[in-house]
Amino acid sequence: MQTEFGDKTMDESRQGEAIMVQPKGGHGKKLLLESYGCAMNFSDSEIVASILIEEGFGTTRNAEEADVILLNTCSIREKAEDRIRNRLLAFKKMKRKNPSLIVGVLGCMAERLKETLLEQEKLVDLVVGPDAYRDLPNLIEQVGTGQKAVNVLLSREETYAEISPVRLNSNGINAYISIMRGCDNMCSFCVVPFTRGRERSRNPESIVNEAKELAANGYKEVTLLGQNVDSYKWNLTKKGEVKDKNIPTVSFSELMELVAQACPELWIRFSTSHPKDLTDDVAEVIAKYDNICNYIHLPIQSGNNEILKKMNRGYTREWYLNRIEALRNIAPKCAISTDIITGFCGETEEQHADTLSLMKEVGFDMAYMFKYSERPKTLAERKYEDDVPEEVKARRLSEVIELQRANSYDRIKQYIGTLQKVLVEGPSKKSDDDYAGRTAQNSMVVFPKGKAKRGTLVEVKILECTSMTLKGELVD
Ligand code: 5AD
Ligand code: SF4
Repeated sequence: MQTEFGDKTMDESRQGEAIMVQPKGGHGKKLLLESYGCAMNFSDSEIVASILIEEGFGTTRNAEEADVILLNTCSIREKAEDRIRNRLLAFKKMKRKNPSLIVGVLGCMAERLKETLLEQEKLVDLVVGPDAYRDLPNLIEQVGTGQKAVNVLLSREETYAEISPVRLNSNGINAYISIMRGCDNMCSFCVVPFTRGRERSRNPESIVNEAKELAANGYKEVTLLGQNVDSYKWNLTKKGEVKDKNIPTVSFSELMELVAQACPELWIRFSTSHPKDLTDDVAEVIAKYDNICNYIHLPIQSGNNEILKKMNRGYTREWYLNRIEALRNIAPKCAISTDIITGFCGETEEQHADTLSLMKEVGFDMAYMFKYSERPKTLAERKYEDDVPEEVKARRLSEVIELQRANSYDRIKQYIGTLQKVLVEGPSKKSDDDYAGRTAQNSMVVFPKGKAKRGTLVEVKILECTSMTLKGELVD
């Protein structure tokens, strides 16, 4: 269970993680590249690393050693931005001792704050938005000549399709594949449409090739990433009309099939789904392919129709429950997780109670839960008052967390006594004698190492559990 920190697909322990790779030779300059926020940012950092390694950069984890420091930033909640500001203030102090050090901001904060970080706050030398990473080598050179550099142009086309992300930082087992960029949804609380621009889908052939390359390099699991994967469309307009008759069209479920067929040895995950766009064909491919994991992340945000309307989510509670019913009918083994926001503008106690009752009705396997944080320029900031007092937001959040803990326990305990296939990821956090891995349903499983090996699928008999973790023993 996660609350106020990090993001849905990225746990807290990875926030601020630095990418480490070897240079290809060249000028020998060192780059510190830290990533914050969602999986999409971590995936983007692999593209940034790829571009800069081509330019001869090596990497470091040590800021003292770096010639260039880049932070790939998150704007989703105020707290995320505060944390990055503190990091930038520390680097500003370092710059006093080392004036040739270049500090830059990438990602969502770059887009949201643009020149403010450069001109008013004088915190950085370089500001580069999520669609301008190809321009980084030029911009860094520009800063090297004593100028400040900005490129925050958003694109309708950029998908970095042919750039092969650098994955040397990864565990060699799980990898992200970005299948689309941007978001056209305009949920009223959300800053993403402003920071990441219009939605565009990546060429399916380049996606399948990336998956095949990962499989050939020994990877065992890929996660297909997008802000709203259900609206993935290749060669189709938003209305579903064919753009070019000479090119095949591909929907999200068809893309999943293409990847599942091309890479039968890979486990395939995807994130994030949107309830308004989730069609039965997605559930059907989950059920049809053994290598598509039985797990879906389907954010509800609130269980109350008036709040959902104010959030501009495009569905009702009844619609959402219908989607859950369809999933459970078509893919009954599918685990379901969600996102919930407490204390959105004008939320009453009754409306909050509707969220709790929906949670009880669905029985989510897992949830990421947040207090509402007003973001500048969003629809909600312009239209509604952020009028739920902080302590009420916090109390509602703790009620939601409490209920989810009970739900998670109820769901996970059903696995006790069963045999589960587990993809072994590495030693458990608590003991070197144990391995940890995940099931297709995304439950964490811890078990004594025995003869198991990292990166393999093993069978584990589940013996006990907490609300978050299954414990068991290897079956020979
Ligand atoms: N305040 C709180 N939570 C937010 N999220 C997005 N924007 C905000 C905000 N302004 C949450 C939503 C979303 C998840 C990624 O972050 O639940 O699904
Ligand atoms: Fe934000 Fe809504 Fe787009 Fe998700 S679907 S990124 S919450 S606007």
